[in-house]
Amino acid sequence: MNKPKVVVTRSWPTPCEAEIAKHFDAELNLADHPFTADELSNALKSADALFPTVTDRVTRSVLDVDSMQAKLIANFGVGFNHIDLEAAKEHGLVVTNTPEVLTDCTADLAMALLLAVARRVGEGERELRAGNWTGWRPTHMTGTKVTGKTLGVVGFGRIGQAVARRAHHGFGMTILFHDAYKPHPDAVRAVQATSCDSLEELLARSDFVSLHCPATLDTVHLMNAERLAQMQPHAFLINTARGDVIHEADLIKALNDNQIAGAGLDVFEKEPQIPDGLLALDKVVLLPHLGSASMETRVAMGMKVVENARAFFEGKPPPDKVA
Ligand code: DGY
Repeated sequence: MNKPKVVVTRSWPTPCEAEIAKHFDAELNLADHPFTADELSNALKSADALFPTVTDRVTRSVLDVDSMQAKLIANFGVGFNHIDLEAAKEHGLVVTNTPEVLTDCTADLAMALLLAVARRVGEGERELRAGNWTGWRPTHMTGTKVTGKTLGVVGFGRIGQAVARRAHHGFGMTILFHDAYKPHPDAVRAVQATSCDSLEELLARSDFVSLHCPATLDTVHLMNAERLAQMQPHAFLINTARGDVIHEADLIKALNDNQIAGAGLDVFEKEPQIPDGLLALDKVVLLPHLGSASMETRVAMGMKVVENARAFFEGKPPPDKVA
């Protein structure tokens, strides 16, 4: 039997590309250039499956092709806000993602940002590398203690819970959370977490706020001027979810007006563009969307895509179907 034809939009870790080649007639992107909208549409016309990633905007117009050959979009990434699920369904496409395998690394990175911004890690390193460090002194670069503080987790799903476990068990933090969906009681009990009925309550009570909700119509610009003003002036905002969840211009204003103490950001509204207003601030730590960026995790993500696609083409339910 002929192998299904798949188009892979970016370069993947070598073991994953080898695995793809075993099971599929694969068109790889060895040059690793970002696909244009036309290239995505052409892939849908010429292949049985598209393996995109979080930077490929699979919009309604990309999906609106005359003779669609593809039956599957197997995304490399857990977030799927870049894929128009409604349009994909209308075209008869199944969509899958890669949950679970990136939970630990994303939670680790949220903690790294939290610690870095509170303890001024970026600032300190910049000072030292610039040759401006004049030596130890009691008043030098005093930051904020993390241990024992209160962490508000917005979105208490897999990643939010993993951050809460690290913060509670590793740093003795008190955990508050806000989520429209009721989490399993064991997850709440494991970190002695308190549910806040409203986001406003969580914002008002937290020393650190970490965002772990998906980007949906309900969460776009969730953290706007009004909500940022509800945070405490000594509090820090951490975002490893999606850039759209924060109104970036409002955040820059809140930081400049000292409405909050700082922010640790791994995701941005218009990646890879970063507003000058953020780059100019010492009280932010900025990373280039590294949440899942460990080799182990990226390999596991790729293998999950292959697993989903193999199941689909063998006529079995793909384990991570989102539409
Ligand atoms: C995802 O998977 O959605 C992350 O943002 C990239 O790993």
